[in-house]
Amino acid sequence: MTEEFEDRAREALAQPKNVGEMNDADSVGTVGSPDCGDMLRMWLKFTEKDGKKVIDRASFQAFGCQTAIAVASMATELLKGKTPEEARELRPDELSGDLGPLPPMKIHCGQLVEQALKSALDGKDAPKEPVAETLAGNLHTAPSGKIKIVPLEDEMGS
Ligand code: FES
Repeated sequence: MTEEFEDRAREALAQPKNVGEMNDADSVGTVGSPDCGDMLRMWLKFTEKDGKKVIDRASFQAFGCQTAIAVASMATELLKGKTPEEARELRPDELSGDLGPLPPMKIHCGQLVEQALKSALDGKDAPKEPVAETLAGNLHTAPSGKIKIVPLEDEMGS
């Protein structure tokens, strides 16, 4: 099972689809994984079909593992034509498409794609839930009241 998954992931990685920034995107979402520190950004472009708002195109950039790249490649393909509501319902195992179910060790890689998608659907360049426990992730999270900036001079007692 895991070997099959890895073979399919390798195939997907040989020619990943929809990689790169989308200049005319309507929405972008970025998330960082608290498990591994990897990051994924997804862009969405919407269109109208039969009077409904649907995803016309999706693209991504990954600063992370190969599984996240393979899943994002699959996901950005299968998002085409989906309404935002349909896209929001997709679970990591569905987003992985032809790759099949994710091995237990790789589930968080699929969740990274799911969260990037949700963040993009929310229309914000930051996740709604505090998924970012890493420094890189925090860079994309709005500052909260908990952050206290201490000037360096004070810390050094000068
Ligand atoms: Fe980090 Fe896969 S190991 S997303």
